[in-house]
Amino acid sequence: MSKNLYIKTYGCQMNVYDSDRITDLLKPLNYQLTNDPAQADLSILNTCHIREKAEQKVYSDLGRLREHQTNRRQQGDEMLIAVGGCVAQAEGDEILRQAPYVSMVFGPQTYHRLPEMIAQITRQQDAYKGKGAGRGIVDTDFPIESKFDSLPIPQSSSTSAFLSIQEGCDKFCTFCVVPYTRGAEYSRPVEDILQEAKRLVELGAKEITLLGQNVNAYHGQALRTSSHSSAQEWGLGRLLHELATIEGLQRLRYTTSHPRDMDQDLIDAHGQIPQLMPFLHLPVQSGSDALLKAMNRKHTAKDYLHVVDSLRKARPDIAFSSDFIVGFPGETAQDHQATLDLVKEVGFAQAYSFKYSVRPGTPAGSMDLQVKESLKTERLYELQDLLKERQWTFNKTKVGTVQPVLFDRIGKVPGQILGKTPYMQSVPLEAPKRLLGCITDILIQEAYANSITGIISSLEPIAVAA
Ligand code: 5AD
Ligand code: SF4
Repeated sequence: MSKNLYIKTYGCQMNVYDSDRITDLLKPLNYQLTNDPAQADLSILNTCHIREKAEQKVYSDLGRLREHQTNRRQQGDEMLIAVGGCVAQAEGDEILRQAPYVSMVFGPQTYHRLPEMIAQITRQQDAYKGKGAGRGIVDTDFPIESKFDSLPIPQSSSTSAFLSIQEGCDKFCTFCVVPYTRGAEYSRPVEDILQEAKRLVELGAKEITLLGQNVNAYHGQALRTSSHSSAQEWGLGRLLHELATIEGLQRLRYTTSHPRDMDQDLIDAHGQIPQLMPFLHLPVQSGSDALLKAMNRKHTAKDYLHVVDSLRKARPDIAFSSDFIVGFPGETAQDHQATLDLVKEVGFAQAYSFKYSVRPGTPAGSMDLQVKESLKTERLYELQDLLKERQWTFNKTKVGTVQPVLFDRIGKVPGQILGKTPYMQSVPLEAPKRLLGCITDILIQEAYANSITGIISSLEPIAVAA
């Protein structure tokens, strides 16, 4: 009998990837996705810990799920509730204490054990006969076996697919919770990645974004080849070259990178692989060397500019995106100015910026000289105004050019489809749905702060997805 599965995914693309894998993993148990938690036999919150007050958001969502669970029980139906992801990893048992109606708590490294957890909970449920499921299970290990070995191959793919190749982080930036929730750095073996990429392309992917918390630290084992008799380690540059040989795979991207791990091989790859898109998300966080040191970023502003320069030499049209934190402990007006100066020098095409806020257990939380909230807000607005202006300036440079746009989604406005240029600009266009899944040349006529648009420029008959 088919059962309904509801998953709410918070946060980054890695969680989107994990939620897709969880869906695939539960298909053999007859779980089908639903958007309606009221109908769910199993509800999963796949949580993220990176934003402020992440726990509160999860507990309030749990409260809402509880109401659905109670309603269903009154009608004689059950709903199992599970919490996964980084908040689950950090909170563990505390979730069961605060929300005893939750049955399963699992971390990002243990979700492959979900079928066993469900079986165990169902057995308990039978024993308790309609009085709930008994005490929940908490599995927040960092197991020796890799979850990737237990996951089924993907069952479906969108035009623009994600592929997780690396997880965890050993960098320990002083503001960041990731090394504690996602654990030590791990790279998947080359063969597994190639196999999954081929499968995604068979299923219709035209673009693959390789994912990892620190993706360019990738160093995966490759099998012996005829030219090399022993197993070897591949960096991201080498891996990208190999992925680019997959027929039908038209676009490659990777995110998120650390400036320290941009090695020459990877930089060269940007000049050598046409499928590798000329856009890179490369977080800098701050333009001040004093703050970069306090953040334990292991690079200076000059190092960052040097990397940008080398990438531009390899691929002159490359555009950059970044993350910024304002109001890190000890940030002075001069430090803030240094960040604004760096933005002006690089001229980012996109960016994300945040006010610093304490993450439990991270070193920066107990640093002296925490910055006043009002000053953080003021600095954030100033930075965001500048970033917005830079983004618009970048978008305007594409007016009058022809951009190959990969249309991969239905737009919010009826009749509109949405696509992306090589530079990750969003392109809403009134056009037939048959263009979904295709790369189509668009003559850009208008540029806005967050998008660009134009008209179909191809004189050739438009290729239609099979
Ligand atoms: N406060 C504010 N922003 C943070 N980020 C990570 N931790 C914090 C924090 N404690 C931001 C960084 C990172 C992005 C994913 O989130 O800019 O690159
Ligand atoms: Fe967090 Fe990124 Fe720093 Fe790792 S490199 S600690 S994921 S900000």
